[in-house]
Amino acid sequence: MRTATPLQYGTTARVLHWLVVVLLLAQYSIGWLMPDIHRGEQPGIAMTLHASLGVLILAVMLLRFAWRLTHPVAPESSLSTWQRLSSEMVHWSLYALVLATTLTGWLFASFRGWSVSFLFLTPLPMLGSVDATAARAIDGLHQAMEWTLLAFIVIHVSAALLHILLYRDGVVQRMLR
Ligand code: HEM
Ligand code: HEM
Repeated sequence: MRTATPLQYGTTARVLHWLVVVLLLAQYSIGWLMPDIHRGEQPGIAMTLHASLGVLILAVMLLRFAWRLTHPVAPESSLSTWQRLSSEMVHWSLYALVLATTLTGWLFASFRGWSVSFLFLTPLPMLGSVDATAARAIDGLHQAMEWTLLAFIVIHVSAALLHILLYRDGVVQRMLR
């Protein structure tokens, strides 16, 4: 028997969504506050935390992605076609940008030859061997990705605020209760 597609996000989707929000808040704070690591130095506590949080964020986003594919939620009926399309575009971009930001950061650490541990427990696998030229290139890419992700988060949160303050429809409630 086919069941109707729900109109609300379920508990799992909501918990995972807000977990990523908290983790990203911590991740950007650590990223901007952590000290630079100079030539010949090995990563310290802040870098270990940054890399571990990044990998955790990626894992939760991949889980969310799989959950979204297997548990579709119908678009809010009050949305116009352009709103549906643009919100879909922003949501898919958020998944893709978290993937790109994490992978560029991980590649950067690998090209610098840093053995970074996951939560001080076990070393993260290296994604490449030491390569100073590649490290310089990918450093710029990690920063570009982190800013592009932030720009999409700002668009996403602004849209949520518009729905609360201007449209006054139930879109934000779908992710709240
Ligand atoms: C969603 C995940 C991630 C976000 C949002 C993020 C964000 C950031 C931010 C804001 C900075 C500061 C750069 C600046 O000054 O503008 C940074 C630097 C850095 N991140 Fe990430 N990062 C993520 C994942 C990772 C991962 C998984 C790794 C490694 C395994 C990593 C490695 C690095 C390194 C090595 C730097 C220092 C770059 C430098 O010294 O220029 N990042 N990241
Ligand atoms: C205060 C911050 C945030 C608010 C108020 C918010 C609000 C929402 C709302 C209301 C929805 C459901 C939209 C709909 O039903 O059409 C949603 C979905 C989504 N949000 Fe956020 N969000 C926030 C932060 C973030 C952040 C930081 C990310 C970063 C990855 C994110 C990623 C997503 C994704 C990927 C979806 C689509 C869910 C799916 O269908 O898979 N959100 N958000």
